[in-house]
Amino acid sequence: MVEAPRVVLASSNPGKLREFAALLAGVPVRLRNASPEELAALPEEGDQYEANARAKAVTVAQASGLPALADDSGLEVDGLGGAPGPLSARYGGDPLDDAGRVARLLAALAERPGAARNARFVCVAALALPDGTVHIRRGECPGRILPEPRGEGGFGYDPVFEPEGHTRSLAELPADLKNSLSHRGRALAGLTEELTRLSGG
Ligand code: IMP
Repeated sequence: MVEAPRVVLASSNPGKLREFAALLAGVPVRLRNASPEELAALPEEGDQYEANARAKAVTVAQASGLPALADDSGLEVDGLGGAPGPLSARYGGDPLDDAGRVARLLAALAERPGAARNARFVCVAALALPDGTVHIRRGECPGRILPEPRGEGGFGYDPVFEPEGHTRSLAELPADLKNSLSHRGRALAGLTEELTRLSGG
């Protein structure tokens, strides 16, 4: 039997690898985390999802000589003019953890009317091939910011994000349901065809 082609995820995070593997179940690729050496030349992240995702994927494809996948994502809130956006991981400055960033977001939206709480998660996924070709796909998950955190699952802003058409926060939804409607799931679904083609399929 021919082995599925190897693809490197431009991240050292085993949690991200698990999530990508779940999202790409059924796609014939063998996914692994990038090594520290393959990640050594990663550029500083900027404030554009596509440029960030592209730079990560291209850097790791060049370093590994293998196809590389990367993503960049963030939360855009209408009442904050689309912030924190690509800067979501650093919202409020360095000393804050996820809970601190959520508290900061809720404070920024306190007393704001319903429409200000409309929001979306955005993800741009990039697949870079060793020959220099890069495929880019964007996925969005629309919803709104809740008045207070709810649920124990997920990470980041999940406890205060209620996806459109649901009455629970992302942190209250089962992981497979979150994956089926998430921005990351939608962006990666757009790359399935290119990933399948790697195996000659
Ligand atoms: P990354 O680009 O995927 O590392 O995401 C950047 C930041 O956006 C994360 O640190 C989180 O704060 C936020 N974020 C991205 N995706 C999600 C999600 O699915 N749930 C909650 N927060 C997210």
